[in-house]
Amino acid sequence: MCTDQERIANDEYLTALYERAYGALASVVGIAHPDHTVEIGSGLGLASLSGHRWLHSDVTASPALAVQNTAERLPFQDASLDALILKDSWHHIPDIEGFLTEAHRALRIGGTIAVFDPYWGVVARCVYRFLHQERWDARTPSWSFASTSPWDSNQALTYMMLRRDLQRFNEVWGSRFTLTERSRHIGPSFLLSGGVSRRTPISGRFLRAMLSWEERRGSWFDHFRFFHVFSLVKR
Ligand SMILES: C[S@@+](CC[C@H](N)C(=O)[O-])C[C@H]1O[C@@H](n2cnc3c(N)ncnc32)[C@H](O)[C@@H]1O
Repeated sequence: MCTDQERIANDEYLTALYERAYGALASVVGIAHPDHTVEIGSGLGLASLSGHRWLHSDVTASPALAVQNTAERLPFQDASLDALILKDSWHHIPDIEGFLTEAHRALRIGGTIAVFDPYWGVVARCVYRFLHQERWDARTPSWSFASTSPWDSNQALTYMMLRRDLQRFNEVWGSRFTLTERSRHIGPSFLLSGGVSRRTPISGRFLRAMLSWEERRGSWFDHFRFFHVFSLVKR
């Protein structure tokens, strides 16, 4: 039987998706030392398929992990890390401010949190809300949510924190982190693909060509993109 890792590695589109996501995150953290760079919620450690050598951590056990821990409790010394990377895991963290407190403690000054997570464009919002298996709840006032499993999530979390409640975010976190919205990624090819968990039979080669076409569009195309990358740099 084929593992998830093999399924993704053998799919031209999903491989391209992972390469783009991790490539964008790597360019945000720049020259951070791999031994002082930790991916939070790294799952199967698929960043290594694209050659990234940072440390993997997750609350869910996997052979790829250097450490098993929750994002809200990081087993690293104060000011010891250059960077924290989160691909598709920010919106799974039930106490995101608990994570930010820990991240601020463990990062050195100038250290970076780089995040790839669901975006809030009009199309993305509708798809996440009505067609996606994970929850999109932009009405709740709270940034934290009840969780009984690592797969519980609120895909609207970055929308709430960085758009709906940006003023509150800056009041609470602005003195500790510099927030920069970096880039938006992956257009309708994502919808046609069904994503990682519901991959449709549409050819990976076709979807990969579509992804390349999407990447050549300008910022007007952000309305049709499904993910964004932002960074928080410790002051
Ligand atoms: C959608 S998966 C993403 C996995 C991987 N980054 C990828 O893109 O293939 C979300 C990951 O976040 C992890 N996760 C959920 N809650 C977490 C928490 N509180 N602390 C650390 N990791 C958590 C899950 O175990 C899961 O591996």
